[in-house]
Amino acid sequence: MLIAQITDFHIKARGKIAYRVVDTASCLAAAVAAVAALDPAPDIVVGTGDLTDFGRPEEYALLRELLAPLDKPVYLIPGNHDEREAMRRAFRGDGYLPASGFLNYTVEDQPVRLVALDTVIPGASGGRLCDERLQWLDRTLAAAPDRPTLIIMHHQPFATGIAHMDRIGCDGADKFAELLARHAQVERVLCGHLHRSIQARVGGHAIVSTAPSTAHQVALDLSPNGPSVFVMEPPGYQLHLCRPEGGMVSHTAVIGDYAGPYPFWENGAQIDE
Ligand SMILES: [Fe+2]
Repeated sequence: MLIAQITDFHIKARGKIAYRVVDTASCLAAAVAAVAALDPAPDIVVGTGDLTDFGRPEEYALLRELLAPLDKPVYLIPGNHDEREAMRRAFRGDGYLPASGFLNYTVEDQPVRLVALDTVIPGASGGRLCDERLQWLDRTLAAAPDRPTLIIMHHQPFATGIAHMDRIGCDGADKFAELLARHAQVERVLCGHLHRSIQARVGGHAIVSTAPSTAHQVALDLSPNGPSVFVMEPPGYQLHLCRPEGGMVSHTAVIGDYAGPYPFWENGAQIDE
């Protein structure tokens, strides 16, 4: 099973540019084209939040259009730039979102079980796993302890060292780590929010990762007073390959046209000229 992760599209109304710089719709169109062209094709696509920039209905309408070329199931969760009810209205017809409450859900018909968590606090940049959401997660994981499981959530439940992003991290991360420690079937936790590829171990065994944005990236700055700024490094996405022998291996791909491919070898010898 192959899972493509795309994240942090920040789609605006048609024709609008994000932060006076980023044509986020063109960026997502390029990401979707790259994922749609993959061979082998992913079995499912997950979008880990900040689907839109302001959570407005017209932004979700454009998002639907932009995702349409993907002919695989697409599972979305909200980020801090999304608006829960507008997202629900836009995507409820796809059949996987609950009718009310948090946008938590599971996907049960794939070799790896998908558990989607809504970490949004309306109006806030940081996220939260409150007791209600943690209890739902605990019950949900306890219901299938032997199935390899992947959690998707927007806010990262660990400190990254990028100070301004850690200040808008995930409340409840400590309890989440304790909970993960009790559910060894969780292979991975895939997050967005950071607009970079970052990995950490949480809860003793699970690898938690964030993925690059399809649009702009958060500057890599580990100084304690680093400003909240973005850079136009190459956008990307991730491919998570569930191996038949168990476990997952993850790849980060950049989007765009680059020179190559070039051969390493010619006529049985390594090229040395
Ligand atoms: Fe974002």
